[in-house]
Amino acid sequence: MKNRILTGITTSGTPHLGNYFGAIRPSLELAKESTDSFFFLADYHSIIKVNNPQEVTSSIENIALAWLSSGLDTNSSYFYKQSDIREILELSWILHCVTAKGLMNRAHAYKALKENNDDDKGINMGLFSYPILMAADILMFNSTHVPVGPDQLQHLEMTRDIANRFNHIFGNTFEIPEAIINDDESIPGIDGRKMSKSYNNVIPLLCDEKTLKKSIMKIVTNSLEPGEPKDHKTCNVFNLYTNFASDEEIAEFKEEYNNGISWGDAKNKLFDKANDSLLPIRERYFELKEQKDLVKDHLSNGAKKVRPLAQEFIEEIRSKIGIS
Ligand code: TRP
Repeated sequence: MKNRILTGITTSGTPHLGNYFGAIRPSLELAKESTDSFFFLADYHSIIKVNNPQEVTSSIENIALAWLSSGLDTNSSYFYKQSDIREILELSWILHCVTAKGLMNRAHAYKALKENNDDDKGINMGLFSYPILMAADILMFNSTHVPVGPDQLQHLEMTRDIANRFNHIFGNTFEIPEAIINDDESIPGIDGRKMSKSYNNVIPLLCDEKTLKKSIMKIVTNSLEPGEPKDHKTCNVFNLYTNFASDEEIAEFKEEYNNGISWGDAKNKLFDKANDSLLPIRERYFELKEQKDLVKDHLSNGAKKVRPLAQEFIEEIRSKIGIS
């Protein structure tokens, strides 16, 4: 079987450097080597947490623009919106019916909210069964490799479990996918925790120079004075820099830490590097953003390419379970 990579980004909030280094850039690298690549906007995942329609709509637009500005070629890949492929929801229900509730009880995201919360207060069923929707996203297209951050590894294991269970009951149907882990732990947000919308600590990917500078200046450091040697390993400024810089530049920066670079200078150096690297993406973004209907057109073309594959496969699945 040829390699088929697939990954999605939940459409909540604005795209940030964590999305770029943790998902978009590594996926586009992999796409160069894979025969098929499927990249999608997980909009039905976003409504688990976001009840604001404008926020969902604008996030769909911006995450799509992030992919397109970062160099995604929609001719050589499949780029689509999850909600345009209705068969995914159909498959999701079918998979619900072969998934043990106990498996979902063990999902980290659910367990974290369940702690000291015996009545499941504030937890909707979408959140509880979210790994099953994710399994449907993946299994619908028989993807072989799924690039994700380490926090999604458990969901991939669950997907494999669910696929095996279905195959066992109804005969071999689904490819068992493998995770490719993108180390997004090395992408700290401005407070030093992993960059994430939920922590409100993000540095936006698609912003002007001034906003980028402002975010970088806010990165938390410590109170060491200029001239005092600094530990690069635990430094958020340094760790972010490594994502942009070459090995030589990283070695040089390390030396400057040993020599006691000031926090102001370190942040300026990160800003200059980030600003240079992001310039082509930013320029494309501001250009694409002005083209009315561009995102809509890309997504509707994507749906036209992808949906027939889903329609054909769902027919096969329905007939396996005795509904056709
Ligand atoms: N749950 C993923 C995240 O929050 C997004 C996602 C949804 C996804 N469906 C997927 C990722 C399928 C990979 C494959 O990051």
